[in-house]
Amino acid sequence: MTIAVLGAGGMVGSRVVAEAGARGHRVLALSRRPPGGKAGVTPVAVDARDPAAVREALAGSASRSAADAVVLAVRTEPVDQEFLVGVTRTLLDLTARLGIRLLVVGGAGALRSPGDRELLVADDPVHVPPEFRSVAAAGVAQLRACRRRAGGDWVYLSPPAQLLPGARTGRYRRGTDTLLTAADGRSWISAEDLAVAVLDELETPGSGRHITVVHHDGDRAVAAGLP
Ligand SMILES: NC(=O)c1ccc[n+]([C@@H]2O[C@H](COP(=O)([O-])OP(=O)(O)OC[C@H]3O[C@@H](n4cnc5c(N)ncnc54)[C@H](OP(=O)(O)O)[C@@H]3O)[C@@H](O)[C@H]2O)c1
Repeated sequence: MTIAVLGAGGMVGSRVVAEAGARGHRVLALSRRPPGGKAGVTPVAVDARDPAAVREALAGSASRSAADAVVLAVRTEPVDQEFLVGVTRTLLDLTARLGIRLLVVGGAGALRSPGDRELLVADDPVHVPPEFRSVAAAGVAQLRACRRRAGGDWVYLSPPAQLLPGARTGRYRRGTDTLLTAADGRSWISAEDLAVAVLDELETPGSGRHITVVHHDGDRAVAAGLP
């Protein structure tokens, strides 16, 4: 496949680029300041706020393949919900028009709380302290924007509560719309293993439009947090 990664230089995007490259896919590395090209990785400077430029990047050219799938992994600091939702709508529109798959790396806040399925993680002070509420709320708004598009081939991947650079173990547990917890009691995954899950989902799409993943130790799975 040719996989476009918007946010290619970020914590998540860079791991997705590396995982896709390691699996032999061609990568279009998209951001305002895209990381330098490695074999199979084509940097494309594009501002996600410019739909025409993003469309051009995805559609391909004489010197560049068109994208077969897009991974959206952008973030601003501080959080800008309007930007996030606007870029997500742009990508939903473009990918539907081009007939390609969109995988949105979103937020844990959009998941249901394991203790109370009526409560979103974003609204649960057990998981989201006040200083992170606006970040969590932006993820909820982003998922809502996706859900408004009944058509189109999109999937929204909520990371667990903690997502940090770490080791690539290649193991993870997959869930649907409820926050998962690893065997050690923490809701976490490395960005490297999240990238493994992203590529698995692109290569072999599962069922469900809202999915999540969590670190998995192999034999030590526990029932905690199972949906
Ligand atoms: N537990 C959780 O729920 C959790 C934890 C971490 C991350 N996440 C989510 O994962 C996703 C990726 O996060 P991250 O930590 O990888 O972010 P990051 O490291 O801050 O990277 C953000 C990327 O977005 C790009 N970007 C920002 N504005 C852009 C624009 N206008 N046009 C094009 N590219 C732009 C940046 O590149 P340039 O500056 O070169 O444009 C950068 O590559 C986000 O949706 C974030 O909310 C969730």
